[in-house]
Amino acid sequence: RTVYLNGDYLPETEAKVSVFDRGFVMADGVYEVTSVLNGKLLDFPGHLKRLARSLAELRMGNPLADEDWLAVHRKLVELNDIDEGIIYLQVTRGNPGDRDFAFPPEDTPQTVVLFTQAKPGLADNPQARTGLRVVSVEDLRWARRDIKTVQLLYPSLAKMEAKAQGADDAWLVEDGFVTEGTSNNTYIVKNGRIITRELSNDILHGITRASLLRYAAEAQMQIEERPFTIEEAQAADEAFFTSASAFVLPVVEIDGVSLGGGKPGPVATRLRELYLEESL
Ligand code: PDD
Repeated sequence: RTVYLNGDYLPETEAKVSVFDRGFVMADGVYEVTSVLNGKLLDFPGHLKRLARSLAELRMGNPLADEDWLAVHRKLVELNDIDEGIIYLQVTRGNPGDRDFAFPPEDTPQTVVLFTQAKPGLADNPQARTGLRVVSVEDLRWARRDIKTVQLLYPSLAKMEAKAQGADDAWLVEDGFVTEGTSNNTYIVKNGRIITRELSNDILHGITRASLLRYAAEAQMQIEERPFTIEEAQAADEAFFTSASAFVLPVVEIDGVSLGGGKPGPVATRLRELYLEESL
């Protein structure tokens, strides 16, 4: 695989980053994941906008102009011959040459890394037909989940807890309400209405979420942006989640309680089709 590191396209084995890199010792970095379908980048302007916002919130500069980000993404798709897959992008505060809690001087070069992951079958995901099982796990992440930082330890622990319980993913719960999944935004459907938590610092402002809600509104579907509990989700007609790498995937079991007879519902299925049609 060819990866991008600080302006160079290199074989992955030759891309080296310092042991002092702030991303490595402090999780001081932000990332984006953009999916590729039929060689095309999905929702790309949204991902660039959120990247700029995450960087600004952490008082980091944006190392590349938007057209250069686009060029790097396109080049990696081409070099790695990606038809279906994802592109991962990470920017860290770079290498201060030592470990220190204070930020390094402003002119310290940032570390910019991008790589591709081929995912054949991304669009025709069998999980869209079977649905997924989730369990609730307490949300113990920091309070700025709107910033897409590389501190993913807690979501990773929550995912492992879900797997230990025989489920596919965790839905994180804070003060009795679902915030989001480990790496996705969460929704329920009741009497045809789509219910999803409103945007705040408590959740990541999903790019797939924004597009999907726009397409759903255009299709005259009813949307309610408010928090919901696990109990309300268990009593819902359907549940589903969205992310750049999953698009829309149905949830058929929450903490052992089956939804819709354990099968993906019509709204989630339609929304997946709608998202794929509209974003391609
Ligand atoms: N995760 N919430 C969290 C906590 C996420 O990590 C993600 C994305 C989302 C969905 O956002 P978007 O629709 O912009 O992908 C919501 C990516 C895919 C990941 O970490 O792999």
